[in-house]
Amino acid sequence: MSITILGIESSCDDTSAAIIRDGYLLSNVIANQDVHKAYGGVVPELASRAHQQNIIPVVDRAINLAGISRTEIDAIAFTRGPGLMGSLLVGTSFAKGLSLSLNIPLIEVNHLQGHILANFVLEKDAANRVPQFPFLCLLVSGGHSQLVLVRDYFDMEIVGQTIDDAAGEAFDKCAKIMGLPYPGGPVINRLANEGNSSAFSFAKPRIDGYNYSFSGLKTSFLYFLRDQLKENPDFITEHQKDLCASLQKTIVDILLLKLVKAAKDFNVKEIAIAGGVAANSGLRDGITAEGAKRKWNIFLPAFKFTTDNAAMIAITGYYKYQRNEFSSQDIVPLARIS
Ligand code: KG4
Ligand code: ZN
Repeated sequence: MSITILGIESSCDDTSAAIIRDGYLLSNVIANQDVHKAYGGVVPELASRAHQQNIIPVVDRAINLAGISRTEIDAIAFTRGPGLMGSLLVGTSFAKGLSLSLNIPLIEVNHLQGHILANFVLEKDAANRVPQFPFLCLLVSGGHSQLVLVRDYFDMEIVGQTIDDAAGEAFDKCAKIMGLPYPGGPVINRLANEGNSSAFSFAKPRIDGYNYSFSGLKTSFLYFLRDQLKENPDFITEHQKDLCASLQKTIVDILLLKLVKAAKDFNVKEIAIAGGVAANSGLRDGITAEGAKRKWNIFLPAFKFTTDNAAMIAITGYYKYQRNEFSSQDIVPLARIS
């Protein structure tokens, strides 16, 4: 019997809906919210309003693109959290209403588990390599930086995480310091591709275990630029590409150091990445190079499955459906999940 899942993602500033049938992606529609660009970051109130406007057309389009009818959907998976409360409420309420009207089950999904399980989305006419358990996943997004030991679909252990800023936040905050638009990660990535990554060096944290820290780097970057600008007011524009390349290299080095340590200590050679920062070409190249050196089996999800998307929510729902893990109608979103 085939299983068809509608996934809905609305945790931050992307409204997304996807259809997965038997693990294969039939559609994945994402509406980005440009409204935040003018503010240099996501404005929660504006995000929830935009979700309200987008949710019906996005879900409708996902169903149409999948070429199925609503009655073929077996369950609705939605992001319960973590994320912005006003944004989560839109997706959660919509999922509840639709599940009532179609009389099909609801499945809550943890956004972070979704990012990791994005590595299991299958596509027609694609190679479809998926990691074997146990694997180590570097989960790096705008809100989180974690090293997760994944023993099974829902048996995940966070072995290390950031003690302050997330990697994506470091990209975004440093971009803001340079006067670059939000979100800064992809902009820095683009400029870094044409810069010299050894032009400048910035502080790297010294912390034990598998934890990360990025706030020192941000401060070191800020003070370095402040000093340079005193001498030369055009310093940033004149050195933009080299600054981006050097900053990106520093962030990637920090991420790889703990990944390599954890892979050695846990004796794991299956290595995956997930989250928005997993789209970064410097990180992808860095992991590819380490992987070749250390004989890792690496898994780099397609770009469309790294930043927020509903395919990752639908695939997580698909695995929960097979375990009969359903949610009740009185479920509420959670901004934070421990
Ligand atoms: O996973 P995501 O879409 O949303 C969260 O759950 O946070 O991640 C968004 C983050 C932002 O900080 C954004 O700047 C970063 O991912 N990002 C990148 C790139 N693409 C997105 N960072 C570096 N390089 C990229 N190419
Ligand atoms: Zn995310």
